[in-house]
Order: sequence, then structure tokens, then C-alpha cells
Amino acid sequence: SESLKDALAGKFFIGTAMNAPQIEGTDTAAIGVITQHFNAIVAENCMKSEELQPEQGKFDFTLADKMIEFGMQNNMHIIGHTLIWHSQAPKWFFTDAQGNEVSRDTLIERMRTHIHTVVTRYKGRVKGWDVVNEAIEDDGSWRQSKFYKIVGEDFVRLAFEFAHEADPDAELYYNDYSMAHEGRRQGVINMVKSLQQQGVKIHGIGMQGHMSMQFPEVSEFEKSLVAFANLGVKVMITELDVSILPSPRRDVGADVALNYDYQKEMNPYTEGLPDSISSALHQRYLDFFKLFIKHHDKINRVTLWGVHDGQSWKNDWPMRGRTDYPLIFDRNYEPKPIVAAIIEEA
Ligand code: XIL
Repeated sequence: SESLKDALAGKFFIGTAMNAPQIEGTDTAAIGVITQHFNAIVAENCMKSEELQPEQGKFDFTLADKMIEFGMQNNMHIIGHTLIWHSQAPKWFFTDAQGNEVSRDTLIERMRTHIHTVVTRYKGRVKGWDVVNEAIEDDGSWRQSKFYKIVGEDFVRLAFEFAHEADPDAELYYNDYSMAHEGRRQGVINMVKSLQQQGVKIHGIGMQGHMSMQFPEVSEFEKSLVAFANLGVKVMITELDVSILPSPRRDVGADVALNYDYQKEMNPYTEGLPDSISSALHQRYLDFFKLFIKHHDKINRVTLWGVHDGQSWKNDWPMRGRTDYPLIFDRNYEPKPIVAAIIEEA
């Protein structure tokens, strides 16, 4: 088989995130890769609330419509990302005309309007929604977001109910990162169980796969994957990439951050990856894909967070202007050897 999607057919969807250059079609080579290898798409940015509703009541669906159109034409499994998230949400969402924080009722109304408008527009075309993103912390406690602080933990239930009202046939997911973390695993399990006990329709849990070469351990990731599946929901690996770059020190001050040696230390592979690191990256991807294939009965979809290395957000996060190699297609749109290895493994 020549393509990931053919090789993995019958196991799980294999997806990628699309950003503006792919959606607008200026990154033409990426379109070829997407249509050859992937059968699921998600918007990397253009369906976040600050993009879709930058001003209250003024929706901008230009890019999102284009992506949905592309997905429909190419028979893709289309995922909506994301309805309720503390990040990339417009400021107006939480403040009134005087600049004061809105009341609980007002925020709930705004959530309802946003979710109803967006989900209704793409009803029948978006198959699944990341309804709530990143509500739980590493230690299992609630993230102290505006949604949580103003509405209380019910904001999650309400978001799912609004989405279900707008499209009863859409699958509804909870999505979060560092899901291999024991505390977060338990926190998410508790939250999902509580939603299920309240009769809330929740169909899946998305495990963002933003990995480094060390974390998470495959066995810890597996524990979460199995524990989530045991809740009776689908599991998705939603934002897979593996950064090979060192993590910036958290204690770094501006003077150190601007220091030339430090910059170089944080961005060591501008000229290409040493073979030893390429093969370690290959092995890391292979270990995870072996795990996904082993548990394919639990996994609905695996989505890479971007098409090719040149486009990855990891070049700019958590530090700007770096050269990272986190995806499975390189800067020349060529498949890395891992692509053939996954096809072989499937
Ligand atoms: C990231 C995008 O990749 C970047 O382009 C953007 O600048 C910030 O957001 N968790 C998520 C994704 O759920 O939406 C984030 O995407 C990465 C972390």
C-alpha cells in the first residue's frame, strides 16, 4: 500500500491539522500529501472561538467554510476544534461593555449562542467536535479558567448539552494534553464519569499527543488509553507531534533568553538532524504507532498536528524561531522512513 490511510483502513482514521496556507491552497504540495495519506482533517486554528467570533455576534466563517468544503470534496472525516477553550478565546466573551466580568448567566448565554451557531452551521458535515478543551490540570484538579471561575464545573456539562442540541448526530469529545500524567488521567476519568452519570452525551476522549523524546512513557500513555476506553467512550490521539528540541528552562529571564549561547543551545539543528536523532525519533514514532495498532479496537482516530516539519507550530512554541522536526513528513514534503514503517506495521 502506498498510503497511510489505505494501510490503516479498518483500524482507525488517520488525520492531519490544516492551517491557513493549506486551507487557502497556497501550500500546494501539502494538499497532495493530505489527499494521498490522510482521511481525517481538523482546523489547527480557524475554528477556535477568537477566529470564528472575533466580535460578539460577528462571525467569520471564511476559512472554516473553505476547510469544510475541502473535506467534503475529498471525503474526509471532519473534526471541529474547538468549541470551549480558555485559550484563543476572544476577550469580549468574558467582559461586558463596561469592561467588567460578565455574570454566570451571561457567560452561559454566550456559550450557548457560540456553540449553537457554529455546530448548527456544520451540522451533518462535522462528524465530531472537541467540545471542551483542556479543563483539567496535571494534578487532576480543575483548571482555574474563566469558564470554570464564572460558571463553575457545570460549564463542561452545559457545553456538551448545547452541542448535542445543535447536532444530535455529532460525536462529542473532551480533549486535553499530558493525558499520560497519573493525576490528570484520574481527573479526566472522574469528570467523564460524572458527566455520564448526569446523562450527558459524551462519545470520546481526545488525547493530545504533543510529545517530547522523553515524555510521556509509552506504558503511561497506554494506561490512560486503556482506562479511557474502559469508560465506554472512543479514544482519539488528537494532536500528535514529537519535538526533538530541548525544553526551554522555565526560570529563564529575558537576559538569559536573549543570550546568544542560550539561543543556540535551544535551537541546535538548524542545518539538519544528526542521524542518531533521526533514528531515535523514528523509533519513538514507531513505539507509539505499534501501541495504537495494538489498541486499534479502542482508537477511533490518530491525528498529526500538521502536515510537514516546516509548517509545525513546534518551530515557534514554546520558543519562537526554532527548527524542529516533529512530524512524519519533512520540509521537502517527503515522507520520513517512519511513514513506510507505519504502513508495514499496519
Ligand atoms: C496551537 C496551534 O498549533 C498554533 O498555531 C497556535 O498558535 C496555538 O495553538 N493544544 C491545542 C491546540 O488544543 O489547539 C493548540 O494549537 C496546541 C495545544
